[in-house]
Amino acid sequence: MRTAAARARANIALIKYWGKADKSLNLPATGSISMTLSSLQTTTRVTFDTKFDRDEVSLNSSQAPEGVRQRISRFLSLVRSMAGIDLFGQVDSHNNFPTAAGLASSASGYAALAVSASRAAGLDLSRSDLSQLARQGSGSAPRSLIGGFVELGIWDGRGTQRCSLDQIASTKHWDIRLVIAVCGQHEKKISSGSGMERSRLTSDFYEQWIKTHNRDLDTARQAVKEKDISRLGPVVESSCFKMHAVALSSQPPLLYWNPITVAAMQKVWSLRETGLEGYVTIDAGPQVKVLCEAKNSKAIAEQLEAIPGVEKVFNEQPGSGVELLQ
Ligand code: DP6
Repeated sequence: MRTAAARARANIALIKYWGKADKSLNLPATGSISMTLSSLQTTTRVTFDTKFDRDEVSLNSSQAPEGVRQRISRFLSLVRSMAGIDLFGQVDSHNNFPTAAGLASSASGYAALAVSASRAAGLDLSRSDLSQLARQGSGSAPRSLIGGFVELGIWDGRGTQRCSLDQIASTKHWDIRLVIAVCGQHEKKISSGSGMERSRLTSDFYEQWIKTHNRDLDTARQAVKEKDISRLGPVVESSCFKMHAVALSSQPPLLYWNPITVAAMQKVWSLRETGLEGYVTIDAGPQVKVLCEAKNSKAIAEQLEAIPGVEKVFNEQPGSGVELLQ
């Protein structure tokens, strides 16, 4: 029997990944910049053993749906072929936050899985190799391997198909917050992966999204380095709403928001007019994440909590990268 466990935190993209350059290798068509969170996390144990006659997956102590089991089984096959082993595995994974509702559970999930599965298989992978592996599970997962502010690049078109992964700034660099309003906990009907493929194939705005992306990455990278919220915030909102414009203009349209999402967004904008500076970002689910300075985060969190229908509010600071557990 071989076993290993790892813990990874979720990350939220400030500049979004939406679109694949290669579906089979899961190569992103856009670079992305994220902040790793401090408390929303996934803990995963993987055990390979002769006693299993297929891969088994448990999520939050319940048997995973068959589609999820198969996706994870395909991922374990990648690890088996890298390690040259043929044992089936058992995956036991726990999230301390809602799964598959736009809170980046696949990012922390595949980061924790890449580390635990590779270790359990006897591999000691470099950060770059772990990043390529985690990316094949989920495009946002490599970013959860590292703490603080992280940039995942696209394949540069040369050599083997790898994407760069860099820390732009450390966990301690900037006392900034992402205040997360949980506006609905239903699992999304369309996964990010199939949503972004639909956008690539059908949205008239997709080309423009790709064309303007590097400019947004440059602005955000610089603003993070200079700790300039008034420069970072507008480009974060713009990247978010461009992504959702591409999603909405897909055929059939992809709408990830609900009425509570809209109420939360409008609240953030009205607070900003009164001098409480916060900026909205939303992923492929209804949750609203607000980027703000630490000094404003409590007041913003209280205002979001007061919106009818907001179920819970998290106040997240920059968190650390993946950990191998003993
Ligand atoms: C909107 O990483 O979930 O959260 O690579 O298909 O697993 P797959 O997609 P995934 O997409 C994340 C999309 C996003 C933006 C982001 O996190 O960059």
